[in-house]
Amino acid sequence: MRDNRGKKGTKTSSFGSPGRINHDSTPFYTSKLYEGLPEEEKVKYVENPVPPQFLDKIFCKSSERMEELPDNSVHLMVTSPPYNVGKEYDESFTWLSPANPTLRDVHEYILVFSKGMFSRKNMNKRESTISRDEFLEFTKSVWTFPAEPARKIGHPAPFPVELPYRLIQLYTYRGEVVLDPFMGSGQTAIAALKADRHYAGYEIEEEYVKLSEMRINEFLIGYESPTLFSFTE
Ligand SMILES: C[S@@+](CC[C@H](N)C(=O)[O-])C[C@H]1O[C@@H](n2cnc3c(N)ncnc32)[C@H](O)[C@@H]1O
Repeated sequence: MRDNRGKKGTKTSSFGSPGRINHDSTPFYTSKLYEGLPEEEKVKYVENPVPPQFLDKIFCKSSERMEELPDNSVHLMVTSPPYNVGKEYDESFTWLSPANPTLRDVHEYILVFSKGMFSRKNMNKRESTISRDEFLEFTKSVWTFPAEPARKIGHPAPFPVELPYRLIQLYTYRGEVVLDPFMGSGQTAIAALKADRHYAGYEIEEEYVKLSEMRINEFLIGYESPTLFSFTE
C-alpha cells in the first residue's frame, strides 16, 4: 500500500508484527474473527441546526425528552449516565486470601457508538483541531490520567475534563455541537469550550446546573475563543 506521497505502507502480516506505517489492516478486519458482524448500512448524511437560543445552554430538566434539539443536530454526545450503584461492599470479600480474590477495577471502558454509519463526511469543510501529538496519543487503546476529586468539584461523580476533551478532539470539527444529557458538574461543557465547540446539556438537579454554570463562567474568565460563537451555518 502506498500513501498519497507514493510511500509504501505496512499491512497485517500472518507472521509476527511488522512496523505500523500507513498501515493497511484490511486482512485483519476481513478475517474469520469478524465474520457475521452486521454490515454498515449506508445512510444519507443530514444535519439540522440547533436554534441559537438553545446553544451553549444547560436545561434543568430530564433528558428523557430533549425537544429543544432538532433531530440530526448534534455531532457528538459524550456522557456518563447515573450509575445507580451503592457503595456497600460485599461482606465475603477475601482479603489476602487466595481462595477467590476479587479483581479491583482500576480502569473504565469508554463505549463508542455510531448512529447509522461509522464515519461521516466533512460536508461543510470544517476544521479539524487535533494536533499530530494529540492524534498519536488519543488513538491509543489505553488512556491514563488522574481521576477528578469529587470534593474539589462539588459533585459525587465528575469525570476529568481531559476525558470529554479527547473524545471531542477525536470525533468532531471546530464549531460543532456536543451534547451531554447528564451534565453533572459541567465537565463536558468546559471541554467543548476548550476545544472551540458548542455544547448543549441536560441536568435534572438544579444544584448541579448552578454548579456547572459557575464552573463554566470561571473557565471563560480570561479565556479567548478564536472563533466560537461565529459558527452560523
Ligand atoms: C454520573 S453523573 C454525571 C457526571 C458528569 N459527567 C461530570 O463530570 O460531572 C450523572 C448526572 O445525571 C443527572 N441525572 C440523573 N437523571 C437524569 C435525567 N433523567 N436527566 C438529566 N440528568 C439526570 C444526575 O443528577 C447526575 O448529576
